[in-house]
Amino acid sequence: MHRSIPPRPLAAGAALATAALTLGLLAPAVHAAPAPAAATTTPAATTIAAAPDIPVANVKAHLAQLQQIANANGGNRAHGRSGYKASLDYVKGKLDSAGFTTSVQQFSSSGATGYNLIADWPGGDTSRTVMAGAHLDSVTAGPGINDNGSGSAGILETALAVSRAQLKPDKHLRFAWWGAEELGMVGSKYYVNSLASADRSKISGYLNFDMIGSPNPGYFVYDDDSTLEKVFKDYFATLSIPTEIETEGDGRSDHAPFKNAGIPVGGLFSGADYTKTSAQAQKWGGSAGQEFDACYHASCDTSANIDTTALDHNSDAIAYALWQLAAGGTTPPDPGGSYENTTDLAIPDSPAPAVTSSITVADRTGNAPSALKVAVNIVHTYSGDLVIDLLGPSGRAYRLHNSSSDSTPNIDTTYTVNASSETANGTWKLRIQDKGPQDTGYLNSWKLTF
Ligand code: TRP
Ligand code: ZN
Ligand code: CA
Repeated sequence: MHRSIPPRPLAAGAALATAALTLGLLAPAVHAAPAPAAATTTPAATTIAAAPDIPVANVKAHLAQLQQIANANGGNRAHGRSGYKASLDYVKGKLDSAGFTTSVQQFSSSGATGYNLIADWPGGDTSRTVMAGAHLDSVTAGPGINDNGSGSAGILETALAVSRAQLKPDKHLRFAWWGAEELGMVGSKYYVNSLASADRSKISGYLNFDMIGSPNPGYFVYDDDSTLEKVFKDYFATLSIPTEIETEGDGRSDHAPFKNAGIPVGGLFSGADYTKTSAQAQKWGGSAGQEFDACYHASCDTSANIDTTALDHNSDAIAYALWQLAAGGTTPPDPGGSYENTTDLAIPDSPAPAVTSSITVADRTGNAPSALKVAVNIVHTYSGDLVIDLLGPSGRAYRLHNSSSDSTPNIDTTYTVNASSETANGTWKLRIQDKGPQDTGYLNSWKLTF
């Protein structure tokens, strides 16, 4: 029998409260106040720096330069031709001025010297290197502005944005412009083959951008690695743009050698010479029954052969992905943040079934941390009556508090739970059951901190 204390009246309206948070990961460093309707779940401010918007005008300015280089060099920027080396010198000059450490790797193919350009952003953990790459060569038939000035310019402008931000990522960032892709991914194969196996294992991921401004665009995401795929899908979800899995010749670009070496790969693609279906035209606009890029590998792949909107979205997606992947200690990074339910919930006296209170998390990526903080505030006249579990989104229960003969009133404790096997997003529940008759109380509030 428990010590009897006159029960305090329970707070009224102890209904379950569930509020879906919809904070975008791209929100500025300090989030705006949440919508007032769901007032019981309060997000805490986070301090991750948002990925920048990549100015598409800058990306197009690079494309104009590549077009001029082709014009001045026989109409192309192909392997073994003067327009290739001039393209490489243009990109290298921008990176050198921006503080990158650049190196040019030479190889030989079809009787000509080829060149890869590698640019390292100083700092970060080189044993966890995130790479972004694009082939810089065109076919001989034309200037190759969509294929692949677009990817080359997109990662160049993202690299320059890294410099403008003076980004200090946890991971190391490396950019690469490949030679002789059009001859069978010769440059990227050469690079991967030249890495010692110890160095290969330091590359946590390789992101490839080959054709990202197709004039009749689709939004295709490589599905080779689910984490890298998800980062891009998350970005396009913030724009409400549906994506499809890239299937137009899987492995037909410079990610293939990385993938074959066991390195996780991802990337974006706006389509080559496949035909846009009417279903695709309905969701993305453009022309059904026409190729995504009717100038693919042709002389008309000029600076006119670019859809600015696709180029813009894909360039922003590159920056988003790199900021996400390189910024944190885990993949994807954890910006921290709290989610609280402050609606009172009566805990009926034993014998009674358990009651639960919910917090729905919707704005995070990846799994919950191994040290998830669960702050519980319960007003109760005999804390030893209570059995408390945290239920993860998977339904798994994590015991926070057991019943005992502890007669101390109230629980105001922060528990640490290894929740790393749970996805962060989903509905988390606090389940409370009163196991001892007579004393009663209520849940005042509880909070999850990731
Ligand atoms: N790199 C390819 C080429 O120039 C273009 C291409 C076709 C592609 N299908 C692809 C690129 C799929 C990436 C993904 O021929
Ligand atoms: Zn290409
Ligand atoms: Ca009781």
